[in-house]
Amino acid sequence: DNLARVDDLIARMTIEEKAGQLNLQNDPFRWRPEGVNPGDTLDSNQEQTAADIRAGRIGALFNGVGAKTTRFVQDLAVRESRLGIPLLFAADVVHGLKTTFPVPLGEAASWDLDLAERTARAAAVEGGAAGVHQTYAPMVDIGRDQRWGRVVEGAGEDVLLGNLFAAARTRGFQGDDLKHWSSLLATAKHFAAYGAAEAGLDYNSTDMSELELRSVYLPPFKAAIDAGALSIMSAFNDLNGVPTSGNKWLLTDLLHGEWGFAGFVVSDYTSEQELIAHGFAADGRDAARIALMAGVDMSMKSGLYMEHIPGLVQSGDVPVERVDEAVRRVLMTKAALGLFENPYRGSDVRLEARVTGSREHLALAREAGRKSIVMVKNDGGLLPLPKTGKRYALIGPFGDDRVDLFGPWSIFKDPDLAVSLEQGLRAALGDGSSLTVVKGSNVETPLEGGIEAAVIAASQADVVLLAVGESQNMSAEAQSRVDIGIPEPQLALAEAVAATGKPVVVLLRNGRAMELSGAVKDARAILVTWFLGSETGNAVADVLFGDHAPTGRLPVSFPHFSGQSPFYYAHKNTGRPAASRDEGFKAQFRETGNDALYPFGHGLTYSPVQYSPVRLSSSTMPWNGELTASVTLTNVGERPAEEVVQLYIRDRAATITQPVRLLKGFRRAVVPAGGSVEVSLPLKFDDLLFLGADLRPTVEPGEFDVWLAPSAEAGEPVRFTLTR
Ligand code: IFM
Repeated sequence: DNLARVDDLIARMTIEEKAGQLNLQNDPFRWRPEGVNPGDTLDSNQEQTAADIRAGRIGALFNGVGAKTTRFVQDLAVRESRLGIPLLFAADVVHGLKTTFPVPLGEAASWDLDLAERTARAAAVEGGAAGVHQTYAPMVDIGRDQRWGRVVEGAGEDVLLGNLFAAARTRGFQGDDLKHWSSLLATAKHFAAYGAAEAGLDYNSTDMSELELRSVYLPPFKAAIDAGALSIMSAFNDLNGVPTSGNKWLLTDLLHGEWGFAGFVVSDYTSEQELIAHGFAADGRDAARIALMAGVDMSMKSGLYMEHIPGLVQSGDVPVERVDEAVRRVLMTKAALGLFENPYRGSDVRLEARVTGSREHLALAREAGRKSIVMVKNDGGLLPLPKTGKRYALIGPFGDDRVDLFGPWSIFKDPDLAVSLEQGLRAALGDGSSLTVVKGSNVETPLEGGIEAAVIAASQADVVLLAVGESQNMSAEAQSRVDIGIPEPQLALAEAVAATGKPVVVLLRNGRAMELSGAVKDARAILVTWFLGSETGNAVADVLFGDHAPTGRLPVSFPHFSGQSPFYYAHKNTGRPAASRDEGFKAQFRETGNDALYPFGHGLTYSPVQYSPVRLSSSTMPWNGELTASVTLTNVGERPAEEVVQLYIRDRAATITQPVRLLKGFRRAVVPAGGSVEVSLPLKFDDLLFLGADLRPTVEPGEFDVWLAPSAEAGEPVRFTLTR
């Protein structure tokens, strides 16, 4: 069996070969688009890597993909190294490979777990056929501070949504059988609390109670592990004075001891080396020792493990048993992937050509795109727009863009698989319609003559489609912002266009919740379109012209002002909650109230749906019991509506203060035009659990409020009592 095979190998490995299995390096072969063939001349970096692979000094490579190249490189390990241990090929297959799906935050706006599982599956199919074995996804960091540029990579601010998407994506990447060529080992990242970096500044420190850590930031990791994830990436941040990549409590005691995690931990790009800059390790040798002893099994990029493990073991600073444990975890995972039987797995140029960018995957990208769009505003029912007989002006830096639509972490995208907004709209428009496209402004700088041209185009149009927001570079790793608004030149463009008096529809391009102001905020209609990937233009056209009525719901709250960050719905009430703007000495800013501009869960459809008061099956819940909450939805519009009914609770008095609302479930319901449907959701005893002061899950008797509502700020609660 696997363990016997792995232990036999470990018994035969030198300490250098053991260190090699823990050494992950950037793949220098990826830069050859045509692939590498035996006999090709290699550059010096490639030569060095090839020599290291032959010598057993590298166990894994990352971000090199392609069937031809991965086969060539795998041969170096399997045929030319002493023990023939296969390499592990890892890559950031985050939201697609060549076919690019919406960024994870956008896709979370679908509130559609099946969709997330299917896009992850499709990404894994393309990745597997390109020779990849492991993906550095899903990213499961809770994102409550929109200044942080990496909110875009996760599922947003909510714990339940975070758990569900973490599990769905893990299932999608890993599939039913990890040995199958289309299964990618899932890596839940970045462990842990990376999303809580102070001030939203990427890589910054986090300092939080263990209660908050366990209540909010850890659950999605546990959910990914419970769904089968066999890899975890340690993070960059300092957590309560102990950097996460050197944090034994986190990486060993909690992860393996308490949670029983059976896979391996990989550091994040030199994060173990960064223990030196953190002031936690004296030098590279010290950093390698601390990280390894804390529980980092595989070192990404720095080379410190290869350099120092042999010496650390020889001097007795690291017991060889810990090295063996890390090697065993890595080799057991290689075995679980079937690499010892078939080191090439899916690497096959014909398979790769067949499944990559396939018609099915592009159709899925379009479906995912339109389901990720959130209509947050539609005054006077301006949308959907007619396809025929109208003059449209598409204005803004993203109108004809075919680059930014992919979003961050789309490093393997096929740039030819890009449908711009302009292309999508043109393909949809019918007789008697016209489309004028004017850039008007660059993303962050003014464009000479841009505003003048935009005003002319707007004046001659019936409706303006204003494509403004962020570029993918503004919403990514190391791209924290002090101001989460739309850049000034685009705001100036919006004002000038709005001054023509023409109805404006904003097509927001964004990777985070943004501050919307001025003419953007005041536009008649606003579609939040994120970075939707390959099929962007078609997906937006589907919603804009009504072929698909919007179904998306915000996974992050939109504040009124940047300065409210961090801003999220599940906050505590404080001792001085502000019921209205007129009250003094209350917990609110001078400039604004505490409500969101657009709350978590918000999203309109093309047919308004009204909610009846909530009915509970009983006003008391017995200990260990269950209730049913029901509501009648009435569609007062003229099209069928798909509604996402959200169940929130509030524990009114507990020994640990609880959020003003907390999502506990949701259900999708289709309400026919002019019709009504009843929607019921269970409310279970376990939904009332919270972590007590002793950090154990607890439930306390008393009163609870329940909402069934279309957002975290809508609806009236009903109350029940939990009796013991
Ligand atoms: O997977 C990523 C991680 O999210 C950020 N640092 C680099 C890694 C590998 O590309």
